[in-house]
Amino acid sequence: MLRGLVSGLAAVAALQDVVAASPPLQRRNRCTELEDFIKKQSKVSIDGVVANIGPDGAKAKGAFPGVVVASPSRSDPDYWYTWSRDAALTYKVLIERFIHGDKSLQSRIDDYVSAQAELQGVTNPSGGPDSGGLGEPKFNVNLTAFTGSWGRPQRDGPALRATALVLYANWLVEHGARSQAADKVWPVIAKDLDYTTRFWNRTGYDLWEEINGSSFFTLSASHRALVEGAALAKTLGKDCPDCAASAPKVLCFMQSFWVDGYIDSNININDGRTGKDVNSIISSIHTFDPKADCTDATFQPCSARALANHKAVTDSFRTIYGVNKGIPQGKAVAVGRYAEDVYYNGNPWYLATNAAAEQLYAALYQWKRLGSITVTDVSQPFFKDLIPDIQTGKYGKDSKEFKSIVKAVKLYSDDFIAVGKKYTPADGSLAEQFDRDTGTPKSAVDLTWSYASFLSATERRAGVMSLSWGEGGANAVPPVCEPAPSCDSEVTFNVKATTVPGENIYVVGSVTELSNWSPANGIPLDASKYTPSNPLWTATIKIPSETTFEYKYIKKNGNGDVTWESDPNRSGKTPKECQATEMLDDVWR
Ligand SMILES: *[C@@H]1O[C@H](CO)[C@@H](O)[C@H](O)[C@H]1NC(C)=O
Ligand SMILES: *[C@@H]1O[C@H](CO)[C@@H](O)[C@H](O)[C@H]1NC(C)=O
Ligand SMILES: *[C@@H]1O[C@H](CO)[C@@H](O)[C@H](O)[C@H]1NC(C)=O
Ligand SMILES: *[C@@H]1O[C@H](CO)[C@@H](O)[C@H](O)[C@H]1NC(C)=O
Repeated sequence: MLRGLVSGLAAVAALQDVVAASPPLQRRNRCTELEDFIKKQSKVSIDGVVANIGPDGAKAKGAFPGVVVASPSRSDPDYWYTWSRDAALTYKVLIERFIHGDKSLQSRIDDYVSAQAELQGVTNPSGGPDSGGLGEPKFNVNLTAFTGSWGRPQRDGPALRATALVLYANWLVEHGARSQAADKVWPVIAKDLDYTTRFWNRTGYDLWEEINGSSFFTLSASHRALVEGAALAKTLGKDCPDCAASAPKVLCFMQSFWVDGYIDSNININDGRTGKDVNSIISSIHTFDPKADCTDATFQPCSARALANHKAVTDSFRTIYGVNKGIPQGKAVAVGRYAEDVYYNGNPWYLATNAAAEQLYAALYQWKRLGSITVTDVSQPFFKDLIPDIQTGKYGKDSKEFKSIVKAVKLYSDDFIAVGKKYTPADGSLAEQFDRDTGTPKSAVDLTWSYASFLSATERRAGVMSLSWGEGGANAVPPVCEPAPSCDSEVTFNVKATTVPGENIYVVGSVTELSNWSPANGIPLDASKYTPSNPLWTATIKIPSETTFEYKYIKKNGNGDVTWESDPNRSGKTPKECQATEMLDDVWR
């Protein structure tokens, strides 16, 4: 065995040696069955991903070239859209496959780059290209804006897209195509990083599009993107203003999601949930760096924190799903998004169950490469489920503890894949969810992200690793957390509204600064310039720059009765610059 950096395939061979030490016949059969399933399902999965990509994917006919359709399902639910997040996570998998040898994917990757460059210019309800529009979560598959109501903005999309494209740009640089990297790919990345540096410290919707707060997934994806983006800028001789300065601030903020032995996936919001959410496991696999130590600060897959969190999150589904009934501690269960989920009655998801497997495959790789496993007070409960008498301590690779942990964790991670197998139909098609009691596939059919999650999990299992993003140089947490520099605009609301004595005018609207539409907390306007011929009410309010908002004026009388302006809602937006001023001249209606 090689010491130090073990090549992926050697690591896998070594893992298999351990597992293969004269297994009983029954287990060998189960193993072969799983191997056969993985082989077949990998083919179905790559075909399933490609079928959902325009313009000529079998199930995405007519979509713009390079556009990833979330699912061909057009009703109940209608997923015939392209989400920036799903597309970026899917292309991350495709670009890694390309780098590891599947060169047939390159034209699709180039299509993705062009489509995203175009998409970044589409004005949408989150704003324009220079006013927050990159935070728009989803678009029509012909790259026009989706204008219906939605949980927006979502701030993970730009960071995830930057990560996918940095992988590609680095490959181009190493393969004699530096100018393509600099002229075609970098401009897209630069806009995404610019967005990330300016918005990481604002609330937005989480990856499940439900909670308007601070999401661990968004922050950890942002941290990774800023670190590798800054490095790529250097390589290409480009600027990445504030990337290097923002990354440690983001990392610092990420530490505050760690509470009571697990990651609280959504903070800065009173959401009434425990916060145990597969959000955090997906974060850990997204920011996995094969060259990293088991760093707690970046929640690496093998870190004590991420392992404790793996247990907390997976355990939260043990008792609530019928399909998990009777499965003992230490055996894999079906995993959903979060226990309080009610979407389609709240079910396990394929991508969540695959993520639970993937984190452990990544951890196995890290332990093998590091040549030791450390069991701490924090991670001991995770290990105890697998090896009840395991003590805290550091175990070198020749110890019996190391060998038994590796063996048990490998079986445990395979077991998550086996849970997915159990609920996968014979044709291998992967929907979004499977029923919590019957295990029947549910919600959107052929979900692209379900297929992509199967590919990445089983690639890690096979020893095919993602590439390093430079975690080792970016895991030092500053002693004091600094917020992003404030960047507000002064918006003056002028409205001509005739009132009688005792009546006052207020403004309310869709942002915190406008009291989130709450009339009781409306912002009062001033009438000191009011004359009968010019009944002017006015207020100057600081609103974050680059923000699109809706608002209305309201009138309150002496009894506190509220009169709203008539529809529609008014809309405003602040410019990109900090400390800009903006004037809104309205007439009461
Ligand atoms: C793009 O797709 C949307 C939604 O299907 C449709 O309403 C719109 O007309 C299309 N626009 C163009 C230019 O094709
Ligand atoms: C902004 O960053 C500070 C410092 O880390 C943190 O305390 C605060 O909660 C963050 N707010 C948001 C909305 O991200
Ligand atoms: C969610 O929060 C963001 C930023 O704080 C805000 O701009 C947006 O209007 C909020 N969305 C809704 C629907 O309240
Ligand atoms: C104005 O915004 C509020 C709050 O988001 C919403 O409930 C209402 O339907 C909007 N009114 C119109 C006419 O769109």
